[in-house]
Amino acid sequence: MGDMNGKSNGIRNIVILTGAGVSAESGIDTFRDGGGLWEQHRVEDVATPEAFERDPELVLRFYDMRREAIQTKEPNPAHDALARLDREWSGELLIVTQNVDDLHERAGARRVLHMHGEHLNAWCTACDVRSRWTGTLIERPACPECGEAALRPDIVWFGEMPYRMDEIFTAIREADLFVSIGTSGAVYPAAGFVRDAKSLGVETLELNLERSQGSHWFDETRLGPASSIVPDWVEEILGNRD
Ligand code: OAD
Repeated sequence: MGDMNGKSNGIRNIVILTGAGVSAESGIDTFRDGGGLWEQHRVEDVATPEAFERDPELVLRFYDMRREAIQTKEPNPAHDALARLDREWSGELLIVTQNVDDLHERAGARRVLHMHGEHLNAWCTACDVRSRWTGTLIERPACPECGEAALRPDIVWFGEMPYRMDEIFTAIREADLFVSIGTSGAVYPAAGFVRDAKSLGVETLELNLERSQGSHWFDETRLGPASSIVPDWVEEILGNRD
């Protein structure tokens, strides 16, 4: 039981924000670390609506390669631990991920929200339906719903609005604990969640390899590789539950 006034014992609702650092040890490049994706490619060339208009082949090829690559990767102990937390946590839990891979789901997590879209979806700009997509888009295949050749990657590009923001803010408002894992805190609105949480009196915890840009906003920061600090934290929070 422990101290009933202790903070961890009062935690019932949890919002977790994950970023590229949670998938790094699965062999998926992060964006801003040395050698990361945004060192290899200019954001303006591949990750904006303007880039897609200007040079669709380049953009489609870039995402086709990424889509193929993630299907060869496996969840790591950080994904496994979060899936275990999802299974065993009886309070509210929402894993808001900026990642467009499916490693949280493949590890078994259910309560996952992809705010930046998903590699394994194709979005039809003609009929607005999203279809599960594991192959390539470069050959301009027909949309399985409407037959138009109007599919694009279901990825939120720079300048576009992340998905399901209302749901995310509602979950943060109702949370007792906000945990940020493996994200540099460079991209808004996700980077601002910690401040939103804090202003609402929600306890905040950062788990990352190094201090993120907004690290000083967190009540506590634990540094280390996700594959070790995430399972440790999950063990701790499940053990602390009364
Ligand atoms: P970044 O590449 O900006 O940051 C990754 C973070 O993970 C850094 O703070 C690293 O220190 C940390 N990290 C690296 N390896 C780690 C490990 N093994 N364990 C724990 N942490 C580790 O990636 P994001 O913050 O996810 O958006 O980037 C946010 C968004 O920017 C992405 O969703 C993407 C990108 O542009 C879109 O594509 C819309």
